[in-house]
Formats: sequence, structure tokens, C-alpha cells
Amino acid sequence: MRKYFLILSLIIVAHNSFGQVVVDSSLLLSQKDIQWWKGAKFGLFIHFGLYSVLGQGEWAMFERRMDTSEYGKLKDSFTVSKFSGKNWVDVAKQAGCKYMVVTSRHHDGFSLFNTSFGNYNSMNTPAKKDLIKEYVDAAHNAGMKVGIYYSPLDWRYPGFFFPDLYYSNALEMKKQTYTQVRELLSNYGKIDILWYDGGEDSWLGFAGLMWDGGKGWYTRGMDKPYRGKFSWEPIKLNTMVRELQPKVVINPRSGWMGDFNTQEVRLRGRENRPWELCTNLSNAAWGWTPSAKDNMMTLDSCIRLLVAVVCQDGNLLLNVGPKADGEIEPAQVQRLKEMGDFLSKYGESIYNTRGGVWDANWGGTTFTDNEIYVHVLRVPTNGRIILPSVSKKITSVKYLGTNVNVGFKQSEGDIVLDGISNKENKTDIILKATLK
Ligand code: GLC
Repeated sequence: MRKYFLILSLIIVAHNSFGQVVVDSSLLLSQKDIQWWKGAKFGLFIHFGLYSVLGQGEWAMFERRMDTSEYGKLKDSFTVSKFSGKNWVDVAKQAGCKYMVVTSRHHDGFSLFNTSFGNYNSMNTPAKKDLIKEYVDAAHNAGMKVGIYYSPLDWRYPGFFFPDLYYSNALEMKKQTYTQVRELLSNYGKIDILWYDGGEDSWLGFAGLMWDGGKGWYTRGMDKPYRGKFSWEPIKLNTMVRELQPKVVINPRSGWMGDFNTQEVRLRGRENRPWELCTNLSNAAWGWTPSAKDNMMTLDSCIRLLVAVVCQDGNLLLNVGPKADGEIEPAQVQRLKEMGDFLSKYGESIYNTRGGVWDANWGGTTFTDNEIYVHVLRVPTNGRIILPSVSKKITSVKYLGTNVNVGFKQSEGDIVLDGISNKENKTDIILKATLK
């Protein structure tokens, strides 16, 4: 019966932002096991690799059509003299992040860990380090939840670009993925999040360069996923993952639906399953570029974004790309600290809450069993906000962290909050309604 079900579910595909995914709920974590992740709300994403040495973003090798062996020489300058796993974790901690996701290997194929698959990794550089080990150990010590980013896609393999033509090469690439995912989930203790990137069929062959006598050259298009004989077999891959780390939270970019949905850069808003927005602290590439420090989001926009995400019941994964030497830009560290200051004051209205209402005109709410937090990002001119009714009785409404009351009227139909003001000119005025 189960086998029959599996075959059925394998042919069901759904669209997500990055193409199509296999829907199979038998691998999903239980509500209980994903609860910590949903309550965590804010994570630090780190993109680091050989591309950081070049400083042109993590797509440089592909975009500039660099010869793979020329690009590979960057390995000789990979000294990461200022890298410290502990430091990265400290930065995340000070920012108020409850989890991290670090690139163990991006699309260029260079691994930041000790792998048995080839020697294109950080152990074979002047650094002679397993950066992932240092990061994971530091995170474990600090009680920080550990996420690992892994790209099955690898530009060094012609089999990625033409999976049928170079089929055995594509199989080699697949073997690399299975071997390395196994290593990452076996050699470092508990891993809390596995964050794939580029493992969906729509990415195979980069949407497919094809030749047809009649039409000439054409591309298949992202909406028409690759349908050739190669398959990543995402159910098989993630069954292995669940055997190695039963509770790991998995994202949807392996071709299987995953435990949550991802939104990238553009906030699309509430979804009917757990979801996360990943975006960059700087308006630049994910990997380091010299302009990153000059194009940072203001503190005001960081707070607004986090609040918009959390009121819509999502998580925010905010990225920085450390410099070639492994150090995170001091300006970015500073901005993250400011986020941490905000969260250390007002974190009770963010962490472990659920998203309530969202209204782009003024803001939204988060709630727990006994509190509603109203995040006012723009005070309406009449100082009044009307919320949907709740069954419990409101005993008080105060500006969070103060004893100052806010006028409220609770009726069967709604809750009216009155006289809201922003004397201190805050980005987010938070009102706390206590329920009984
Ligand atoms: C995209 C990009 C990649 C980046 C990722 C972050 O898939 O290919 O460079 O790492 O998004 O979400």
C-alpha cells in the first residue's frame, strides 16, 4: 500500500518560486518538530566560498564564463586569515538570530568542509581548515541552531548543463551530492536545518538549451522542467537525510517540497505552510563585493521587514557575505547589532509568536495564547486601529515595555484601539494587549 502511495505521490508536482517540486508528505516533520523553527523567526544567512576571494559575487565564475581550472586557482589564495566560526556565531547571537545557515558549497562546487569526494575543498588550500566544523562546533557551544546550505547544482559538471548528453558525468555529480550530504549530516553532530539550492529539475540544464531543425536554437524555459532520464531522486535523497538526522528541517530546493517554502528577496507574503524569506542585508550579491558595505538596508527597513514577515507568520533569513579573509564587514556587524538591540527590548513580540493580521497601511499583529502584540509601523492619522474580535477578554493594552495605557474598546465584533501616538518617532510602536 505504502509503495503504491509513493508511486502516486511521485508524479504529483507543484510549483514553488523556483520551479516544480515533488509533493510527498510522508517525509514531512511533524508540527511539533518544526515548532522551534517557526518560533525562531530570525536567522543569519552566510555566503562564503572561493568567490569571496574574487569579490564579484557568488555567480562570478558562471557569469564571467571563467575557465573552471583558472577559477580553481583562487584556492591558492584561500587563507581566511580572519575566519573564526565563533565570531560568525557571536555576530548572529548579538543580532538576535536564533539560527544560522552557512554555505558549505555553492554552485561553483568548492566545499568548505573535509570531504572524501575529490580535493576541491578548503582542506587543500593554505587555510587547511574545515570551516564547517569550526562553525558547527561554535554554534553548538553557543546554543545556536545550525543550518547548512548545500548546492547539488555544480557548474564544473557538463552533466549539469546537458544531463542527457553527458549522462555519466551527471551521475557523477549526483554521486557527489549523495556522498557530501551524507558527510555533512554524519560528521558534525546535530544539524538543525538543511538548506538546498538548485536541486530542482527546472534548474537542470539551466532551463535547457535545445536544438530543433525547424526552430534552430531555443531554450526550454523554467516553466517546462527537465524531463530527461537523469533524476536527482529527491525522495531517495531526503529519505537518507531523515535516516541520518530525523529532525532536521529541510527547505524545498532539492526537488522535494520540503518542510517549508522559501521566498527570495521579494516578500510575497503569507503562505498556507511554514515559510521563510531570504534576502540580503546589502543590496548586492549574496557573496562578498566591495560595495556591500555601502548598500546596506537601514535599521528602519530591517525592522519593518522583520515585522512584516513575522506578522504574516514567516521567518526572515538575512544574509551577509564575509570578506575574503572571513571577516564580516564591520558596518554589517554594526547593523546586525542594532537589530539585536531592538530584539533584546521587544523580542517577546516576535519570537515564539504567531502571525495575526497584516495591513500594509499601518502594520500588523503577532500573538500568543494570552497576548496580542500590535506592531504599528505607520500611525493612522486618527490614531485609531481596529482589529478583529477575539474570544478572550482583554484586560489591558499598554505600549510594550512601559506602563502607559492605550485606550481600547472590546466588543463582539471588533477591538478598537484609540489615541495611538508616536511621540518618540519610533519605527515600530508596539502595543501589548493582555488577554484573560
Ligand atoms: C539563488 C542563487 C544563489 C543564492 C540563493 C540564495 O538560488 O543561485 O546565488 O545562494 O539564491 O537564496
